[in-house]
Amino acid sequence: TSSARRELVAGLITDVPDWPVPGVTFKDITPLLASPGGFSAAVSELVENAPREVDVVVGAEARGFVFGAPVALALGAGFVPVRKPGKLPRTTRDQSYRLEYGEATLSVHTDAVVSGARVLVVDDVLATGGTLLATCQLLASMGATVLGTSVVLELASLGGRERLAGEGVRVDALVT
Ligand code: PRP
Repeated sequence: TSSARRELVAGLITDVPDWPVPGVTFKDITPLLASPGGFSAAVSELVENAPREVDVVVGAEARGFVFGAPVALALGAGFVPVRKPGKLPRTTRDQSYRLEYGEATLSVHTDAVVSGARVLVVDDVLATGGTLLATCQLLASMGATVLGTSVVLELASLGGRERLAGEGVRVDALVT
């Protein structure tokens, strides 16, 4: 069942205390990826909860690639990578966003989606929402229709869901 799959997924995400800095507990998804049953359960749940009629799945470097690509295949959609700056060879559109300390930029090829394309954005974790929001802004600026965003894990205390809702972006999370 769906709830059994989500429990399996939740149980494979591992807390790493005091990483990357003291006082922060990092949620490590690598044990989930290493488990054939767990990885498959996560992808199946993302696929079953996806909106209808997705043309393109978009994932942000790097962990968004790992979940986004198999979801795209299962939906019969294309996959578009949103990358860290300086990685894509042709003309890009870039979006900067604030991190807790400093700034980050995401980059996508300007011809990666056609105007009107129906897009699902997939990532591993929703924390502050900065990554998903920047990704959605890039796609919207290219004329795509963002149907929604899906993540494996939502860190609810960081307020990402509310921030995205304020910009009209809905998010589905397998585990909160
Ligand atoms: C992590 C994670 C999400 C993002 C979530 O990526 O994979 O994409 O942070 O945080 P936010 O909601 O506060 O934006 P990271 O930038 O660490 O890159 P990586 O996938 O290359 O590890």
